[in-house]
Amino acid sequence: MDHRRRLPPALATVPALLLSSCLAASLLLVTTPAAQAQVASDPSGGGCSGNESPPSSQTTHQQQLWVFGDSYADTGNLGDLGRELTHAWYDPYGASFPGRPTGRFSDGRVFTDFIASAMGMPTPVAYKLRRGAPRGLMARGMNFAVGGAGVLDTGNFQRNISAQIDLFQAQRRAAAGRGCGTAGIAVVVVSGNDYSYATDKGNSTSAAIAYIPTVVRQLREQLRRLRDDLGMRKVVVTNLHPIGCTPLFTRALNYSGCDPLANVGAAQHNAALQAVLAALDPANQTFLLLDVNAPFAAFVDGPAAAAAAERFAEPRRPCCESFSAGGHCGEQDDDGKRLYALCDDPSKHFYWDEVHPTQAAWATVAETLRPKIHEFLST
Ligand SMILES: *[C@@H]1O[C@H](CO)[C@@H](O)[C@H](O)[C@H]1NC(C)=O
Ligand SMILES: *[C@@H]1O[C@H](CO)[C@@H](O)[C@H](O)[C@H]1NC(C)=O
Ligand SMILES: *[C@@H]1O[C@H](CO)[C@@H](O)[C@H](O)[C@H]1NC(C)=O
Ligand SMILES: *[C@@H]1O[C@H](CO)[C@@H](O)[C@H](O)[C@H]1NC(C)=O
Repeated sequence: MDHRRRLPPALATVPALLLSSCLAASLLLVTTPAAQAQVASDPSGGGCSGNESPPSSQTTHQQQLWVFGDSYADTGNLGDLGRELTHAWYDPYGASFPGRPTGRFSDGRVFTDFIASAMGMPTPVAYKLRRGAPRGLMARGMNFAVGGAGVLDTGNFQRNISAQIDLFQAQRRAAAGRGCGTAGIAVVVVSGNDYSYATDKGNSTSAAIAYIPTVVRQLREQLRRLRDDLGMRKVVVTNLHPIGCTPLFTRALNYSGCDPLANVGAAQHNAALQAVLAALDPANQTFLLLDVNAPFAAFVDGPAAAAAAERFAEPRRPCCESFSAGGHCGEQDDDGKRLYALCDDPSKHFYWDEVHPTQAAWATVAETLRPKIHEFLST
């Protein structure tokens, strides 16, 4: 392997402008005018600026889940701006579940859905779909993650993690004023958009690797803020998956193996993040570094992947494969003719498109993380 080879661009980046007011309601959410009116007239609750207000009886025993991140966690926040810009709102996305696109970057559910389930909670309402959401669900938290986002700006106008946390602050009263005293659990999912941006901008891998300290320093500040300024009781933060094993990288190798340099970059980010958490929280009381890298690697990288081949017969070839290397899943020509091939059985593939796992992959990954999550939340 030539380690000096330039990394392919555009990791997990979905060009998009968050200018649309389109509110496509997800099938997963029950949308009723009554629920809408309730939400709209929901009193703000007031007095939520500190941690001193006791929660009211209604939600005393109900945890709240707040999600921040990118397309690995987005459940509809990237608005529908057309097939070219926002693939996840078009077929074949959502084909396995619920049978139509819901803005999720998968054939079905994504990480947020499974992680919420592992925590015994409903999938939180996507911020963008909040107006149609039932009040009971609104009281359980919200998902601010948006496809293409990074810790810092990634050049596509998606809300970076800081801006997502700002939104949380603004929404907390309106959406969950009843839970003032217990901000609950935060999940932070950062999957590498900062690095694809740096790779593109600097036209080199070394630019992306040089960017790691900047990204991790900024992420540290955001994590600190969630705990110290916003009173999150628990904060779960994912590390980076083996980026070099995504089809975006492996396609050039006919899916035979992973790009080692990209995986080294991910490992460096992960080591830096672990050091940051160890310094922020030496007793592991508030933060859990959720190691998604290990289960991903077990299925898609190296000898372990061969052992796991029974689970995913196609560990690196995506189910939905564009005809051209620069194309995308769901791409069509001017006559509406498909410019991609779709596999027969997405559950045999780990990857759905060039960067995103299938629902089956997310289910399997989340299952391996479940014990860790339970142990962490029970303390
Ligand atoms: C995040 O986004 C906000 C709002 O667009 C911007 O003001 C801020 O500079 C961004 N932060 C970083 C670290 O890029
Ligand atoms: C990026 O780098 C490659 C080789 O390193 C070079 O061929 C190409 O012209 C560069 N592109 C830009 C826009 O600088
Ligand atoms: C790519 O791999 C497949 C098997 O996975 C094989 O059938 C095909 O011939 C390979 N193509 C090239 C160009 O090596
Ligand atoms: C905290 O977790 C890390 C692993 O993430 C572990 O190495 C360390 O020993 C733990 N510290 C305590 C005090 O349990």
